[in-house]
Order: sequence, then C-alpha cells, then structure tokens
Amino acid sequence: MGSPLSRRFNKPAAEAPKAISEAPPSESAAQAAAPAAEKSAEEQRGYIPPPKRRTTPRVAELRRQLRPKLLAAPNEADEWRRDNPEHQKIVVDRLNIFLQRANLQLPKPEYDELREALLDDILGWGAIDPLVRDRSYSEIMVNGPDVIFAEKRGKLIETEYVFDDDEHADWVAQKIVRRLMRRFDREHPMTDARLPDGSRVHLVRRPSALQGITMTIRKFPEKVLTVQDLIRFGSLTQEVADFLQACIVARLNIVVAGGTGSGKTTLLNVLSSFIPEDERIVTIEDAAELQLAQRHVVRLETAPPVPGAKDGTGQLVIRDLVKGSLRMRPDRIVVGECRGGEALDMLQAMNTGHDGSLTTVHANSPRDAIARLETLTLMAGMDLPIGVVRRQIASAVQLIVQQARLKDGSRKIVQITEIQGMEGDSITMQDLFVYKTPDHKGPGPSQLGGGTLQPTGYRTKFSERLEQAGFKLSAKIFGGGMVGGGKA
Ligand SMILES: Nc1ncnc2c1ncn2[C@@H]1O[C@H](COP(=O)(O)OP(=O)(O)OP(=O)(O)O)[C@@H](O)[C@H]1O
Ligand SMILES: [Mg+2]
Repeated sequence: MGSPLSRRFNKPAAEAPKAISEAPPSESAAQAAAPAAEKSAEEQRGYIPPPKRRTTPRVAELRRQLRPKLLAAPNEADEWRRDNPEHQKIVVDRLNIFLQRANLQLPKPEYDELREALLDDILGWGAIDPLVRDRSYSEIMVNGPDVIFAEKRGKLIETEYVFDDDEHADWVAQKIVRRLMRRFDREHPMTDARLPDGSRVHLVRRPSALQGITMTIRKFPEKVLTVQDLIRFGSLTQEVADFLQACIVARLNIVVAGGTGSGKTTLLNVLSSFIPEDERIVTIEDAAELQLAQRHVVRLETAPPVPGAKDGTGQLVIRDLVKGSLRMRPDRIVVGECRGGEALDMLQAMNTGHDGSLTTVHANSPRDAIARLETLTLMAGMDLPIGVVRRQIASAVQLIVQQARLKDGSRKIVQITEIQGMEGDSITMQDLFVYKTPDHKGPGPSQLGGGTLQPTGYRTKFSERLEQAGFKLSAKIFGGGMVGGGKA
C-alpha cells in the first residue's frame, strides 16, 4: 500500500511510544503490538499479530486536539473529499495558522505525519482511510481501536492500522452517521449506516461493544458481480445459471439462504438482474445495497426515527415498507433480507399475486431456511398456528438457493432445493443441485473448495411453468431424463 498514511506510519513498531503500546522499546515489532497479558495467549495459539503503525504520542495528542479546532462546525467538512486539492489546502492552511499562533515548531517528519493524519480525519475516514480507498479490500472490521481486520480476495487478515483511541474511532463514526441524520451515542449504541460510495456500515459502541467502537464495513464492490463473474469464479455453472434465469422469468418465488457474509446479497442482485425490463420492481432494504440495471425500479430503504424524537417518529422499518410496497403496483418485490415479522407480509404477498418475489434469510441449509421463515413469521405476532404458517410457506416459496462461504474462502451456491408441498404437517423438499468435491460422501453439500455444483438427477416439478415462460431446458441440466420430482 503506497498511501500517504502507510508511508507516514511505516516505521518499525519498536519505535511505538511507551505510553501507547505499553511495551519497552527493545521488544520486537510483533510483541509491541499486543499488551503483555494477551501476548502469551495469542502466542500459545500460534497467532502473531502484525506490527502496528502508530503515530508518536505527540502527533496523536495534537491530532486529537486539532481535529475539531480546524473546523468551523463539526459538519463543515462532511462533503469535502480526501483527494480534492482545494479541500486539502483549506485544512493545511488552517493547521499552519494554528501551529504559528501556538508557536509550535514541529520537525518536518512529525509535521508531515500530523498533516496527513488530520487530512485523513477531516477529509477521509481516519485510520482506516487507506483501507476504505483501496478497492481490493472487500470488508473492514474494527474490533476496538487497536485491532482492525480486513478481507482481501476472500482472505481475512489483521491489518497494521490502528485508531489512536476510542475517541478517534468515534470521530469517524460520527462523521459516517451525521451525513445520514442518524445517531450513534449512549442512547443509540448500535446503528446501521452507509459511506457515500454505498459501502454498508454497522456500528456498535460501549457498553455492548466491550473493546470499544466496533465497525463492520462491507465495501461497495468495485464492480457489481454479474452472473458471468460468478460462473467464472466457480460459484455456479452455466447450466444452473440458465435454470435460475428460467425460474426468475417464470416468476417462481425464491429465497436465497446463507450465513453471514456468504454472498446472499450478491446472489440476490444477480438473480434480480434476470427480471425482465418491462416489470415494475420494488426493492426494500435496511441499507440499500442492491443495484439493479433495470430502469423501472423503486428503491426503498428503512428510515430511522427523526433525531431527538423519543417515540420513534419518522421511523419506517422493513415491515412498513413491505406493506406499503403492495400499494405501489409492484410486479416484483425484492426484500434485501427477512429478519423479522416482515416474513409474514412477504409470504402473504407471494401468495396473493406478487409471485416472482425474492428475498434472503440467514440460514445454513434449506431445511434451516424453512425453520427460520417459520420463526420469523411467528414474530409477526399474529398467533398463527404452526400448521398454518407451514402451509403458507409451502405454497409461497418454490425454490431455496443456498449460498455458502467455504473453508477456502470461496463463495458458492451449494444447494438448490425445491419445495414440493406438504406431507401431513411437514414441508417436503427435493434437492435439484448439490455442491460436491470429488471425495465428498454423504447427502449434504461439501464444505471444501474445488468442487462443482452437480445435478441430483431430479428434474424440477416446475418444468411446465418454465416452458410456458419460454424456457425449454434440456434434461441434461438436471443430470438425466427423470421427470416430475421423483427418480424415474
Ligand atoms: N460468488 C462470489 N464470489 C466471490 N466473492 C463474492 C461472491 N459473492 C459475494 N462475494 C463477495 O463477498 C462479500 C460478501 O457478499 P454479500 O454482501 O453478498 O454477502 P451477504 O451474505 O449478503 O452478507 P451479509 O450477511 O453481511 O448481508 C462481498 O465483498 C462480495 O463482493
Ligand atoms: Mg447481505
């Protein structure tokens, strides 16, 4: 990384000031990064944290004091840009005047360090600015000021960056939420937000976040992944892509299931791209991430309460938006994630003419996804008997596409399962495709890299519907000539 921050901070961590690292200067770089108590436990596990890039205590202190002083109002620079020379000049001029007035003369390296640090804080995203700007990082995770992890090409690594302290991280957090008129303080200790480039941000603070401010940033992808990209990565095969496209056009209701960070939203976006151009699509999300290329799209995002309002005035949750969307004459409803009572509204919508709708749920298998939908539907508080809920699910959802992040860090579709109907009180399901590695035995998908998504030999029971939508899929896609949801 050649950013100014990395150059500036790129000094041996052995130089890290005693006051901050609590390590004697003679200790090795890696040791200096961790407090003595943690060190041995980490070493025992064989994990050595990377050396950290810290400013000198004097620069850290000046940086802390000057951050607010260089601005006429806390939000003055919220729309300014880190790479805009005019904005940089305003900040640097103010810094110079301040140092002159205070009669402070810093050695050149320290001055340079302070200047870049303040530019990052005021125009950028503080300590994590290089990670935010480097597009090859897809996720940034701040676990308190001292521990910052990032994901690059599927690999999660601890970075050398640190915030000076919790107050420093809070400076950046406030900047993020202020632009969205959201709050992040003792009254609102957990919040969702977005960076201006669309990256999704989740924030938690004390008392819940025990290490201090915890940020999870899902970077806005440099390039929206297309179905061709996913095929190239081996996340699915061309045949399965053809099948999924047919299912979307034929208006099957589809649920994408997966664990956290498994690629659900990305897959939802790809599936949505198959929706024909002449259909009206309403997307509903907590923090808008979906990016559809179609023109006839209405994008809705939840709204937090008006700042200062105690009774939730102005708040719109996913459920409100799902209900509202039904009056917007949608052909398709795409809900970013079902995680509460909106599942009931979504199922009802799917069952009452809004077929072809899509959503995701947090679940580790298709069977689990059904159980999750049941729980979420019960959360709607309608006191529905479980049998009724199951019937709703069985008639609303036709396909579950399971996405997973595998042991090697790759993200793949690992199972495509059709809902067949009800047998007594249980929902019956049939796998159409399952991800297998050569040595994998047993019924479920493999968790290892290097496999492929293979047909199970069962042909979809929706063949006729797909044909009516203009897709005559060859029997080969399903691994043979079997018909009608059972082995011939
Ligand atoms: N098939 C894929 N191959 C490679 N990278 C992928 C794939 N799918 C998603 N990604 C990348 O993985 C990261 C997580 O993807 P995504 O946001 O879709 O996951 P998610 O399951 O929706 O996460 P969350 O549970 O946090 O909502 C993103 O950086 C995305 O670009
Ligand atoms: Mg997601």
